[in-house]
This record gives sequence, structure tokens and C-alpha cells, in this order.
Amino acid sequence: MKLIISALCVLVLFSFSAAYDPLDPNGNITIKWDVMSWTPDGYVAAVTLHNFQMFRHIMNPGWTLGWTWAKKEVIWSMVGAQTTEQGDCSKFKGTVPHCCKKTPTVVDLLPGVPYNQQFTNCCKGGVVAAWGQDPSASISSFQVSVGQAGTSNKTVKLPKNFTLLAPGPGYTCGPAKIVPSTNFLTPDKRRKTQALMTWNVTCTYSQFLARKNPSCCVSLSSFYNDTITACPSCACGCQNKKNCVKSDSKILSMVGMHTHKKDDEPLLQCTHHMCPIRVHWHVKINYKDYWRVKISITNFNYRMNYSLWTLAIQHPNLNNITQVFSFNYKPLVAYESINDTGMFYGMKYYNDLLMEAGPTGNVQSEVLMEKDKDTFTLKQGWAFPRKVYFNGDECMLPPPDKYPFLPNSAPVTMFNFPVFILSLLFLLVVW
Ligand SMILES: *[C@@H]1O[C@H](CO)[C@@H](O)[C@H](O)[C@H]1NC(C)=O
Ligand SMILES: *[C@@H]1O[C@H](CO)[C@@H](O)[C@H](O)[C@H]1NC(C)=O
Ligand SMILES: *[C@@H]1O[C@H](CO)[C@@H](O)[C@H](O)[C@H]1NC(C)=O
Ligand SMILES: *[C@@H]1O[C@H](CO)[C@@H](O)[C@H](O)[C@H]1NC(C)=O
Ligand SMILES: *[C@@H]1O[C@H](CO)[C@@H](O)[C@H](O)[C@H]1NC(C)=O
Ligand SMILES: *[C@@H]1O[C@H](CO)[C@@H](O)[C@H](O)[C@H]1NC(C)=O
Ligand SMILES: *[C@@H]1O[C@H](CO)[C@@H](O)[C@H](O)[C@H]1NC(C)=O
Ligand SMILES: *[C@@H]1O[C@H](CO)[C@@H](O)[C@H](O)[C@H]1NC(C)=O
Repeated sequence: MKLIISALCVLVLFSFSAAYDPLDPNGNITIKWDVMSWTPDGYVAAVTLHNFQMFRHIMNPGWTLGWTWAKKEVIWSMVGAQTTEQGDCSKFKGTVPHCCKKTPTVVDLLPGVPYNQQFTNCCKGGVVAAWGQDPSASISSFQVSVGQAGTSNKTVKLPKNFTLLAPGPGYTCGPAKIVPSTNFLTPDKRRKTQALMTWNVTCTYSQFLARKNPSCCVSLSSFYNDTITACPSCACGCQNKKNCVKSDSKILSMVGMHTHKKDDEPLLQCTHHMCPIRVHWHVKINYKDYWRVKISITNFNYRMNYSLWTLAIQHPNLNNITQVFSFNYKPLVAYESINDTGMFYGMKYYNDLLMEAGPTGNVQSEVLMEKDKDTFTLKQGWAFPRKVYFNGDECMLPPPDKYPFLPNSAPVTMFNFPVFILSLLFLLVVW
């Protein structure tokens, strides 16, 4: 028994450290450098940040990318982005470089910069959509002109230690690797050109590295039982409880209370779960051939509007979704044989912005699913989701024995040994 638990422990820890996400096994952010020309003392490269994650986007205040130069490289100029600090360029006479730091820190420009400072896919304040949500907006790029560097593919040294300083500690980047040179099509699509040299860096996300506690929780209810199964207490950690605000507190009407703070410190409404986000799943109606679920997402953070939010859900009946009201839906086909996971996201200009906590801080939808006669049941909590992710972070579900159950059906059958062990381990990790 002990052996099994420790083996499971190792497995769980391993899967965390390898940043493997079962709902998005190939998800990553790839940073590609295409050397477009060699210069007398270095090169000009187009750098593209491509978010290949299905349901995890980079929200306001956007990405911050850092790296360490291999030698004494400097950045002569940048288009479509800028470094946050110039560093010590006192050695240079005449033209002064844009940045002389050994470890430059780069951010995207804000929308509305003059045309001559723009670059393709730039200037979005570092906001990058999830690939599954909007592939065309999942790219961000800039141009960098590097000096005191190698001037051929034999002498150039790849930058090291890439770090996505924002969105933050959840991302780990691998080393830069030389890959086959990118081909580009001219705008009229009649000619192909090729980068002189290309290297890629792949960054993967791990919720385990990003934060100690979950950042959202799930509550459940049904038409067949009056019990509302609340989020687990302290699901997101109760250490902020002393700073939380009651929903009727006077300080909420103070000016500036709601402004997004640089330090990202949330201002949470006091709840027993202390999560910034709660997802509620209500089994609403049981028709003959269909059934209907209501999903609502509530924001409890007074300091955060969630733009382009995403909700990924795993439930065996999502393969037979018939209609989704007022959200967009896209199946996430992670494995070829399994088709039980999907992503919900807001409709543009209607509910793609989840407003700060308060009367408007929620979005909701109803989902109609066709029953598969062989598997559909209201028993044993089957009608509730298996996994829920908000903005790419997994939400804490209540323990299965607390699910609303059909009158006269015992909850004991819910007991599922692996799930039980995993929840135990999860609790251990959380503590
Ligand atoms: C990154 O994601 C893309 C798209 O899913 C995939 O093709 C690629 O293999 C991934 N890269 C790595 C190193 O996993
Ligand atoms: C390098 O990154 C680009 C996306 O930016 C991707 O299309 C390409 O497949 C990557 N190459 C390798 C070998 O990972
Ligand atoms: C470097 O450039 C030469 C031509 O200048 C080319 O033959 C060679 O394949 C290139 N090597 C790499 C690794 O790109
Ligand atoms: C890598 O970059 C990070 C952030 O810029 C820095 O804190 C760290 O010391 C660097 N590590 C190495 C080995 O240069
Ligand atoms: C959220 O958006 C509304 C409307 O755009 C704005 O008035 C409010 O200040 C924003 N709140 C935060 C915390 O950014
Ligand atoms: C998965 O479900 C979607 C939507 O119902 C459907 O379009 C797609 O063909 C299914 N894919 C597989 C592999 O069953
Ligand atoms: C549900 O979906 C599966 C695969 O997507 C399909 O084989 C099955 O026929 C569907 N069931 C109903 C009732 O539509
Ligand atoms: C509703 O579900 C709860 C468990 O969450 C259970 O204790 C209660 O007995 C159920 N109500 C009925 C009427 O069966």
C-alpha cells in the first residue's frame, strides 16, 4: 500500500514537473528567431512569439521576455517592442545602442504607436490569444537588430536562458535550438524567401510552478436535489482572508479601489473558498433525448477584468453537444479516440470580458447535450464535470461524496480509489 502511494506520488510529481497537461498535451509557447540579414557587426532578426496553447492566453499586462546574451552583444534597435532598461552604454561614441544589458528585458509596445515603429503582429500590449480561441491573434512579434554578435551562421551565438518573466513563474523555457530555416511567402504569394538562420525556444506551463493554490473552484447543483454543493472551503488558500472585502463594504465605492495594480495583488470579496473565480455547473433539465446544463462563471476579484477568458471542461457527454447558448464552444480533441473535452469562451463584444467583482462580474450560458442512451445517467454524479479549467488553470472540484445525489442513490458508489488518492495528494500539495 505504502509502495503504491509513493509510486503514485512520484508519478504525480513527475507529471507536474514535466508540465504535462492532459487536456492540452502539446500546449507550449514557441519563440522563434529568424535572422533576416547579416550586418557589419551582427544581424537583424524577426522574433515571433507563438502561443500554441489551446486555452491559455496571455492577458493584460502582457508578456515580458528576458534572455542572457552569450557574449557581448548589444541591441542597436528594436521595432515593435522595446527593452525596459537601456543599461550602461557609456562605452559607445556616436550612435548609442537601444540596450547594452547582458540580460535584456523586452516588452511589447502599446496599441496606437506611430506606423513607422510598428512590426507585423506587434503593439498589442503583449496580449496574446489562446491558439484554440483565435489562432490569428495568438502571435506577437518584433524585430531586433543585434550588434557585437557573430555575422554568419558559423559565428553567431544563440542567446541563452530565455525567461517569460510575465505571465510569470509558471513558464519554463528550454534552450534555443537551431531548426530548419523558416520559409516566407511574398505578399502576392508568388515567391518564397528564406530566413538566413532560424532558432526556436519552447516554453511550457506548469500550474504547479505558477502558484501554490488553485485560482478557481467549482460549485454544483441540480434540479433533482435542493442541495447546492459549494466550493470546498479555502479551495484557493485562506492566507489572504484578512485582506478580503465584504461585498457591502464602503471602501468599494472609493476612487481608485478597482484599478489594476502593478503588483497584481488581488482584492477579493470575502468568501469561504477565497477564490477569485467560481464556476457553477447546474444540471437544469432532463428531457427525453436531451439534457440541459447551466454554466456560470463569477468573478470575486475587485481588481481584475478578465478579457478573452476561457473555460475548458471535461465531461463524457461533451462529444454530443447540440447547442451552446451565448458562449462560443470548440471541442479540444486531445487524443484521437477521446472527444470529451471542450473549450467555452465569450462572444466578441458581448461577454468575452468578465467584469470585475460586483453586480456585473459574471457570465453565463446554457448547454444542450444529446443523451447517449448507453451512458447517460443522473446517478453517481455522472452529470457533473470531471475537470474544469479557467484561463488554463485547473479549478478545485468538491469531493465526490458531497455531490448532489439522486434521492435514494447512495453516494458510496462514487468512491473511486485513484481519484481519492489523487485528491488526497492534491490536498497535501495544496497544504
Ligand atoms: C509546440 O506546440 C506545437 C503545436 O501544438 C507542436 O507542433 C510542437 O511540437 C510543440 N513543441 C514542443 C517542443 O513540444
Ligand atoms: C519553430 O517555431 C515555429 C513557430 O514559431 C514552428 O512553426 C516550427 O515548427 C518550430 N520548429 C521546430 C523544429 O520546433
Ligand atoms: C550556413 O550557411 C551556409 C551558406 O552560407 C550553408 O551552406 C549552411 O547550410 C548554413 N548552415 C546552417 C546550420 O544553417
Ligand atoms: C536567467 O534569467 C533570469 C531572469 O532574467 C535570472 O533571474 C537568472 O539569474 C538567469 N540565470 C542564468 C543562469 O543566467
Ligand atoms: C473593468 O472594465 C470597466 C469597463 O471597461 C472599467 O470601468 C473598470 O475600471 C475595469 N476594472 C479594472 C479592475 O480594470
Ligand atoms: C468530436 O466532436 C465534434 C463535435 O461534436 C465533432 O465535430 C467531431 O467530429 C468529433 N471528433 C471525433 C474524433 O469524434
Ligand atoms: C455521440 O457522439 C459519438 C461520437 O462523437 C457518436 O458515435 C454517437 O453516435 C453520438 N450519440 C448520439 C446520441 O448522438
Ligand atoms: C441531496 O444530496 C445530498 C448530498 O450532497 C444528500 O445529503 C441529500 O440527502 C440529497 N437529497 C435528497 C432529497 O436525496
